[in-house]
Amino acid sequence: MSTSISGFSKLTKTEKIDWIVSNYLSNSTTAKDTITQYFNSNQKLQQLHDEFIENTISNYYLPLGVAPNFVINGKTYAIPMAIEESSVVAAASKAAKFWMERGGFKTTVISTTKIGQVHFMYSGEEKMLQAFFNTVKPKLIADTKSITANMEKRGGGILDIELRTKTNDLDNYYQIHATFETLDAMGANFINSCLEQFAKTFKAEAEIQLDNDIDIVMSILSNYVPECLVRAEVSCKIEALADKGIDPETFANKFAQAVTIAEVEPYRAVTHNKGIMNGIDAVVLATGNDFRAVEAGVHAYASKNGKYTSLTHAKIEDGIFSFWIEIPLALGTVGGLTSLHPLVKVALNILGNPTAKELMQIVAVAGLAQNFAALRSLTTTGIQEGHMKMHLMNILNQFDATKTEKENIINHFKTNTVTHSAVVSQIEKLRQ
Ligand code: MEV
Repeated sequence: MSTSISGFSKLTKTEKIDWIVSNYLSNSTTAKDTITQYFNSNQKLQQLHDEFIENTISNYYLPLGVAPNFVINGKTYAIPMAIEESSVVAAASKAAKFWMERGGFKTTVISTTKIGQVHFMYSGEEKMLQAFFNTVKPKLIADTKSITANMEKRGGGILDIELRTKTNDLDNYYQIHATFETLDAMGANFINSCLEQFAKTFKAEAEIQLDNDIDIVMSILSNYVPECLVRAEVSCKIEALADKGIDPETFANKFAQAVTIAEVEPYRAVTHNKGIMNGIDAVVLATGNDFRAVEAGVHAYASKNGKYTSLTHAKIEDGIFSFWIEIPLALGTVGGLTSLHPLVKVALNILGNPTAKELMQIVAVAGLAQNFAALRSLTTTGIQEGHMKMHLMNILNQFDATKTEKENIINHFKTNTVTHSAVVSQIEKLRQ
């Protein structure tokens, strides 16, 4: 049944849907209805979404939720989160409220430098190359003036470029390693444009000034941004951790142990960090940023010392419990999707139209809060109690429960443990 096609991108949207439905989907009427029911009746909005990517056939919805009561450096935020996982927004809101009552989150942006590289091969003498680079460096920068003018006006631009020898890793391999300040832009287009111009000038000048050829392999930003770093933390007296029958001393110790386990044990660290990314990705996505770039950079950072480890840390010292995260985040609040997607604009409005630096702090807090909520559940009640409570609605929806059935069953599970089979048998009982 499955088949290939040439010129798919040239078909109209309806033709694309018809082709997909008739070649790949057996129940074609239902499938077509499912695809088309997500179209937006606002033509302009639909066209905007159609044109974000190639070959759009429909819209893929994710819930946009809000976690209120985040106090960050004394200012209160409601944080928008786009995510499908049932318990994430609830957990974030709970952690926000908990820390609101204990002084809130404190954050600092440590650095904002971004990185890009021109990768090239050169088989001549390294000394000659270094001398050539030193001569050509001012021209490399001068030739990017038309690209950097606006960014420079606002106080950003190219910070430095240097030649890096990589021949120990790979024969003949060198880089132009460049650092950038991109202010409120994530900066991918800016950085890549500068790099491609460096490569052009470098190659052209090398042809005139160098005996051996330079072979440009590629010019691209790095999503590893260990010098674009933000820190978020919470702390309070151990006694202040007391909450709903939890002994604060036992809780603090167990919590710190759970963090240490993630620091020393990669299997646990991955899941621990996944929980952090539940919070981070949701805000990154809601604010129109590139969560794949953030994910790649964050996990590389988690392995920067050669072993994958926890992104968060905790300590108990002089009766004070502290818990913090330090992560690299390359984010933008201008350009890209931030000025295109109407809901992204709303999300940024909800956050008070933050600068990129402010957004770095908000996102780091969302990650820390999420990790706090997860470890709090894991080290006390276990994760399933809260998770299954939130998942209950998904099960009810799978069974097309009516409003009355939902109310009845939610009420029943206020005092009973939610499991998939318990919910199913409750639905069946109700329907008999
Ligand atoms: C689930 O999405 C995230 C957790 O597994 C995180 C963790 O284990 O710390 C609960």
